Amino acid sequence: MTAPLTVVIFGASGDLTARKLIPALYRLDVLGLLPDETKIVGVSRREYTDEVFRETIQPMVKQSSGISWLQGPWTQFAKRISYVSADAEKPEGIQKLNAWLQNRENNQGGRRLYYLSVGPELYPGIVTRLGEAGMNKEDGGYRRLIIEKPFGRDRRSARDLNNILHQHFTEDQIYRIDHYLGKDTVQNIMVFRFANTLFEPLWNHKYIDHVQITVSEKVVIGKRGAFYDTTGVLRDMFQSHILQVMAMLAMEYPTRLTAERIRNEKVKVLESIRIPTMEDAKKSMVLGQYTGYRKEPGVGANSKTPTYAAVKLMIENWRWQGIPFYLRSGKGLNARYSEVVIQFQRPPHLMFPLQKGHSLESNRITLVLQPNDSIRLNFQTKVPSVDSYRLEPQDLSFVYGQAYQGQQLPEAYERLLLDAIQGEASLFMRSDEIERAWEIMDPIIAASELADAPDPNEYAINSQGPECANGLFSEGQSWQPIVPN
Ligand code: BG6
Repeated sequence: MTAPLTVVIFGASGDLTARKLIPALYRLDVLGLLPDETKIVGVSRREYTDEVFRETIQPMVKQSSGISWLQGPWTQFAKRISYVSADAEKPEGIQKLNAWLQNRENNQGGRRLYYLSVGPELYPGIVTRLGEAGMNKEDGGYRRLIIEKPFGRDRRSARDLNNILHQHFTEDQIYRIDHYLGKDTVQNIMVFRFANTLFEPLWNHKYIDHVQITVSEKVVIGKRGAFYDTTGVLRDMFQSHILQVMAMLAMEYPTRLTAERIRNEKVKVLESIRIPTMEDAKKSMVLGQYTGYRKEPGVGANSKTPTYAAVKLMIENWRWQGIPFYLRSGKGLNARYSEVVIQFQRPPHLMFPLQKGHSLESNRITLVLQPNDSIRLNFQTKVPSVDSYRLEPQDLSFVYGQAYQGQQLPEAYERLLLDAIQGEASLFMRSDEIERAWEIMDPIIAASELADAPDPNEYAINSQGPECANGLFSEGQSWQPIVPN
């Protein structure tokens, strides 16, 4: 018989629990993927009974679950949820939780998944208390620790945090979340590249001109001003999500679908990214801030925090030598839209006449990560006519929603929670990966925060960001437009 599983959520009264974690566990339950004896216990300082906690989160879970919400299955699922009011940074708080867990496990041991859905300043305290109380010991079942981002704010703090974690947990007990890796379309990058023979031979400096990665958000900062103003887009989106997508795009074939093989290949890409000097960094980025950001609650009146950035990075290895990767992300833009563009080189010679003032658009593969997940291959065609060779680019498209009608794309957290329950760590970040990602971003962030750094370029809400972001490209190239949806 397998030991009973308890998912312990620290920070249970926070938004993430009700908006993402509980809805994900609920859906796993509906799909029959949660082990039968699974219990979920929310932990935070607020005084709730089990019943009040369930009632408090229910409206948000319902909203987040959308069409998959059904009262009957929820009532069944909600019986799994309990609540322990405790300050997990204090020994007595952790002892209270431990006593609850031991009681629930009938003192026979059990599997425990600890989820730190708390502010990053609480990670060291809670992890240390868990260690001191012996709650890290694999006693009758595994002990796993899931950690949310942000993981540090630079390389040094990430390393310090890793050291604290490693005092109490081994690396294979630690699951560091980057929820972009949980997105089906990000995992599909690997399938697209390595389950097809067509693309991989072209996936290198001989045929590709450059790569663009865009993560555009329509939302503005809203209530997150206090956090965001000390973080900025470079820490919030680049160090984590965008570098992870870049590593998936650029890595070599991992040969096996195992956590270590995949992460080894991703680390090799990160290790090959040229770390810019401060001077290079200044020239390889464009920063922006949306109009009105400084008036958001919690934001400084003279804040220079960028809400938009476009950055150019180079990978120094055989496959990618000389091929720029252009990365951009921003808030308050005209759409929530994430895509990867593989821009191929022009044909070496063109015998067809071009219309006056037109240049040839060379081939492009666009992987739309969200929403309207799709893949487009753009290529030249002959416009039908009896007397000319007029060229026009057209798309060959694959749209997830059409190809897999009636099949809902899983939410990132469903996949990640299930993987952590099952001990599958491929989609979580290893300590070396995270530290190297910071090492790449540190000089870029430092250059953006120099006392004499210019103000970020102002851009209008609902725009495509500052126009000068096209200045990163060589002549004749530019960002693909962010498509409103
Ligand atoms: C989070 C960032 O990690 O990702 C947020 O902290 C951002 O600022 C969010 O809005 C974007 O995630 P998604 O899945 O909505 O693209």
